[in-house]
Amino acid sequence: MPGLALVGVQWGDEGKGKVTDLLAEHTDFVVRYQGGNNAGHTIVVGGERYALHLVPTGVLYDHCTPVIGPGVVVNPEVLLEEMDSLEARGIDVSRLLLSGNSHLIMPYHLELDRVVERRLGKNRLGTTKRGIGPTYADKAARIGLRAQDLLDPKIFSAKLSVVLKEKNLMLARVYGRLPLDQKEIEVQYLEYAERLAPHITDTTPIIQSALDSGKSVMFEGAQATMLDLDHGTYPFVTSSNPIAGGACVGAGVGPRDISRIIGISKAYCTRVGSGPFPSEADPIDADVLVEAGGEYGTTTGRKRRCGWFDAVAARYAARLNTLSELVITKLDVLSQFERIKVCVAYEFEGRRYEDFPPNQTIFNKCTPVFEEIPGWTEDITNARSVVDLPAGARDYVSRIEELCGTPVSYVSVGPGREQMVAYGERSAGPVGAGAAR
Ligand code: GDP
Ligand code: IMO
Ligand code: MG
Repeated sequence: MPGLALVGVQWGDEGKGKVTDLLAEHTDFVVRYQGGNNAGHTIVVGGERYALHLVPTGVLYDHCTPVIGPGVVVNPEVLLEEMDSLEARGIDVSRLLLSGNSHLIMPYHLELDRVVERRLGKNRLGTTKRGIGPTYADKAARIGLRAQDLLDPKIFSAKLSVVLKEKNLMLARVYGRLPLDQKEIEVQYLEYAERLAPHITDTTPIIQSALDSGKSVMFEGAQATMLDLDHGTYPFVTSSNPIAGGACVGAGVGPRDISRIIGISKAYCTRVGSGPFPSEADPIDADVLVEAGGEYGTTTGRKRRCGWFDAVAARYAARLNTLSELVITKLDVLSQFERIKVCVAYEFEGRRYEDFPPNQTIFNKCTPVFEEIPGWTEDITNARSVVDLPAGARDYVSRIEELCGTPVSYVSVGPGREQMVAYGERSAGPVGAGAAR
């Protein structure tokens, strides 16, 4: 049975964690395929809040195997801390599988992420400072250390000594930092190795045979389309490919292994860090969205920049990911507004762009063309079916469907697992992957 991919449509933090968790109820494997602990996926179950950074969301269900695929970059210290904190809350993490091909985030990656951002000054990207970019750079340069290297102390030491010489020169001579000590890193990482060894395996054939034997497999995207290294707002992007195509590369499956692709989008839009954001709201509306939506980063605690739904970017994401459907989250937050804006096009030098502009200069300098739609003021957090939603909310969702040319299958009306409305024909039947077609 082909798998299901779940991807962010905007600049991240769309509520992927909540939706993955909901669908994982009927899923055998949940696979992270890119990114690292720059991700922060929040799940609220029975009033308990879980913030997951590396461990795939399916971990909360006993029947589900969480898999960290080859395309992920892993900070072993963070992974172990996350596993410990889940165990302390009664969650069994023994099923977690970690691909031996995943690359390790090393102490020099963290240091370089910090010093490079500092050196860039006002041109900085606003990274999460988790060492993501430097780790993927070393992977491409073929000098990365991988999870499987943890299992062979000799190889680990030999590879580290080659790469550390260069990193220490860079840290000391270019950035004026103290060099890092090889022995210290070795001792630290070999301690992690002991604890992670039972989880490290070749995850690729496991996923492939799960698909071949008719098990359900979900590929959980982190970050989002507009942060994609190749297709996002470069250079203000992350260093991996969050789009659905990235799931094939990062998990080791073929394009025909994925048949359902769900795009997650907020009913409005947010972005953390630097970079263009055409539909960014004026400060008064942005503050209302920040407060009503609790728009502070799950990973860094930074206040998120807020704006209106960007239909140009969403249409671009729908095509790029070949979305089969959209899930709209945080619709409840818009109850604050009597009139809601939607960005339907961009304008630059007198020309209107309804499709994603051909270059970044236009994207950077364009102005948004907003359409105003009447809102609703009722509290919708207790809505559980379409008829519970006020007409204004239903009209808004219909307008999004029309603008994106993509059907909406669920609407989320609060952070809780149960705060979900099955929408339209696609989601008839039980909430969850059981509703897949
Ligand atoms: P992710 O990175 O895409 O998984 O999203 P985050 O977890 O970083 O951010 C989404 C935030 O919105 C989290 O705090 C969620 O608990 C919360 N959330 C998700 N869906 C809804 C919703 O429909 N309404 C409200 N009010 N909050 C939501
Ligand atoms: P989830 O999975 C929102 C942003 C950072 C920065 C840029 C590059 O929770 O949606 P990086 O540390 O990846 O090199 O930073 O990408 N960014 C995110 N923004 N949600 C995320 O993940 C993000 N992961 C990275 O803020 O602008
Ligand atoms: Mg997040």
